[in-house]
Amino acid sequence: MTQAPERTSDQDDLPPVPEGHVRLTIDDRIVDAPQGELLIRTCERLGIVVPRFCDHPLLDPAGACRQCLVEVEMGGRKMPKPQASCTMTVAQDMVVNTQMTSAVADKAQQGVMELLLINHPLDCPICDKGGECPLQNQAMSSGRAESRFVEEKRTFAKPLPISDEVLLDRERCVLCQRCTRFSRQIAGDQFIELLERGAHQQIGTEETAFGEGEDFQSYFSGNTIQICPVGALTSASYRFRSRPFDLVSTPGVSEHDASGASVRRDWRRGTVTRVLAGDDPEVNEEWIDDKTRFAFRYTQAADRLLRPMVRGDDGELTETSWTEALERAAQLLVAARDGQGPEDEDGHRKQGVGVLPGGRVTVEDGYAYAKFARLALRTNDVDARARVGSDEELDFLGTRVAGTGPDHVSFGALEEAPAVLCVALEPEEEAPIVFLRLRKAARTGTAVHHLSQWSTPAVVKTGGRLVRCAPGDEVAALGTLPDAVAAGLAQPGAVVLVGERAAEVPGLYAAVADLGARTGAKVAWIPRRAGERGALDAGALPTVLPGGAPVADAGARAALASSWGLPDAAGLPADAGRDLGEILRATADGELAGLVVGGVALDDLPDPDLARRALEAADVVVSLEQRRSEVTDRADVVLPVAPVINKAGSFRNWEGRDRHFTTTIDPSGGSAGRVGGTAATTLPDCRVLDTLAVEMDVDLFTQTPQATAAEFARVADALAGHRTRDAANALFAASRRSASPPAEEQHVETHAPALRLATWRQLLDGGALMAGEPELAGTARPPKFRVSTQTALRLGIAQDDPAELEGPRGSLILPVEIADLPDDVVWAPARVPHPDGRVVTLAGLGLAHGGPARLTGGSRASERSSS
Ligand code: SF4
Ligand code: FES
Repeated sequence: MTQAPERTSDQDDLPPVPEGHVRLTIDDRIVDAPQGELLIRTCERLGIVVPRFCDHPLLDPAGACRQCLVEVEMGGRKMPKPQASCTMTVAQDMVVNTQMTSAVADKAQQGVMELLLINHPLDCPICDKGGECPLQNQAMSSGRAESRFVEEKRTFAKPLPISDEVLLDRERCVLCQRCTRFSRQIAGDQFIELLERGAHQQIGTEETAFGEGEDFQSYFSGNTIQICPVGALTSASYRFRSRPFDLVSTPGVSEHDASGASVRRDWRRGTVTRVLAGDDPEVNEEWIDDKTRFAFRYTQAADRLLRPMVRGDDGELTETSWTEALERAAQLLVAARDGQGPEDEDGHRKQGVGVLPGGRVTVEDGYAYAKFARLALRTNDVDARARVGSDEELDFLGTRVAGTGPDHVSFGALEEAPAVLCVALEPEEEAPIVFLRLRKAARTGTAVHHLSQWSTPAVVKTGGRLVRCAPGDEVAALGTLPDAVAAGLAQPGAVVLVGERAAEVPGLYAAVADLGARTGAKVAWIPRRAGERGALDAGALPTVLPGGAPVADAGARAALASSWGLPDAAGLPADAGRDLGEILRATADGELAGLVVGGVALDDLPDPDLARRALEAADVVVSLEQRRSEVTDRADVVLPVAPVINKAGSFRNWEGRDRHFTTTIDPSGGSAGRVGGTAATTLPDCRVLDTLAVEMDVDLFTQTPQATAAEFARVADALAGHRTRDAANALFAASRRSASPPAEEQHVETHAPALRLATWRQLLDGGALMAGEPELAGTARPPKFRVSTQTALRLGIAQDDPAELEGPRGSLILPVEIADLPDDVVWAPARVPHPDGRVVTLAGLGLAHGGPARLTGGSRASERSSS
């Protein structure tokens, strides 16, 4: 760390220069700075603000704007001209005078400012950046009071759409190149460029400048808007919507993925107007992806649920009071739990209730679902995974992941790692902030390997090595990794990142664990949804207790019972619960009587039809939802719960790091809490479950997120000694009542299983949280099938031809792209939004990763495509 010794009359009194540092003088103050540090940073640490536009601490220096000029003396001689402090590094005995002590530096900065303003329009009153604009601020601090430029300013047609989401007003641009450097260095997307030269120099895309080329397409494009030091880049969804000084800013955490990215939500009159990246060097640095930035209007959707509803005798849902809705829900759930529901024709009564919280829960809400299931419903039938899961995954999560924190593997560890292998994880699509850190790591020497089917954009942009394998063959591929990859993973600090899709390939979690043991690489798990990691530690899984201990561990159950104030463990269910598929199957088959469902979209489930049958067959469905859905359409009681902006809480990110956030907009706070002009009465899930439990004569003590968090921390401490890190320990595996039968669709034969299917979800695919964001949807990667050249030739399909992918329950038509897949494999996006608002999922078609698929091109697909 740099020290700043006081100037003394006798230089010999100063302590020696620390190793790796140099000693210099800035504005008459002597300072020790690390070798190689940029002058502008040393000034910052001394509290001296040197004006700048192009400088950004996370971008390589460019020296593009010349605003940061300072006077520099080396070896007793002044340099002939002022120097850019953002590109010059400190040196021993350097003497620096900034605008604070040098008239030359001050005049130089004023001159640069005058030049920058020559072509800059005076449209601050209507510019989105007005009020938070570095140019505006520095024009005040370093500019001249009057302009000497009387000629005509440069003008352009405006705004120029760089993408659906990013608009460019070229006349405002000061050519600082922050946007182009971000795209090239951080995101790896080289679509926005500096074009032309001299007075015609401008920012744009090849298409905007020359009428051809590729559109600016990036999952991270919004960052260019945020770091543009003027109003040249603006957001189509925020443009002209509000002034920064009218907004209230509240720090928050992204609800869109498992990164736990820090964000800032700006809002007024009860409505969020924009989301910006927060600054957290340990997590997202200063970047977020476009989904996190632009997908926030779902909270203002017309179908947002604002009042509790109960289904009446006429079969219709009608709005009612919380009191009546909770009483009704409690009455129905008690009857379902105790087997006192209606008898069927054979005199049989169903019994038991399954709990499906969904993967977007906060830690506090996940804990409340876990406790509600065990105390109020007396069952371990609770599963927060709204996706394909497996028993093997439960074992892996219980023994390898539960209770781990950033000291195991963190974003920083990825940056330091000599080698990283991604397994069942497409980082740019499924964990975009992890992708950015992998790309940063790759730029400084980390070897990033991907076990996958083709050279995806993430593989290319991380300079990665593709370990290609056919879908379903991942286990064998891990056993025969190329020597260079295996040797890389054997280095200290190497990491294996495994995604939740490993559950789709039998044996893959075990193979990853084995690879970690074999090579010494640390293994970290990265789920796709924000709440999954917290739900694991909170015990919202059928074999895991709150705190991450196994259900089958009698000692853990006793400790939990004691923490929950029960006389003994007999008050807790001892048998492992059913997982998602088993809960749905048992309900559809008339075993379970009811379901409590959180934020679950049926289309996301491995078998949406099974879920629909279960909802139809259930005696009781209680839905805790934010917006109308297929579940609420079937529910007996609908309890409207608060989205993240209307409550406090925390997400536990993939590192195991708790990411706390406070309420952005209080839903009960008068006009500020109104949603679309209507006062909302939504509550956090934990509060709803607490009150519901009280109606069932059970106390959860989860009235508020704060109380819930405190209790969860206490329980986690009490059970910490019961977590197991022993993979051979059979507590998790033995606790399963039976192996989950594979999903039905995997048994369905297609007519001609000529190809094997590889699939995963793309980042922007019309998910529930993207509602009301047409500009964001416009930046999605176009969905396509991908096959190898040989496969395309064999099928008679050419690049961009439409082709039809057939599953047992329907088909999907998309254009084909030729890529470097193994032969006889087709890759398809797992979820495809349709322009009419519907989505088609491969699961809905009865298709699964590694399973058979039939692809046909030619005239039939063309005809069906056009019809
Ligand atoms: Fe800089 Fe903004 Fe111009 Fe890009 S558009 S070069 S960020 S001023
Ligand atoms: Fe130094 Fe731009 S900030 S040249």
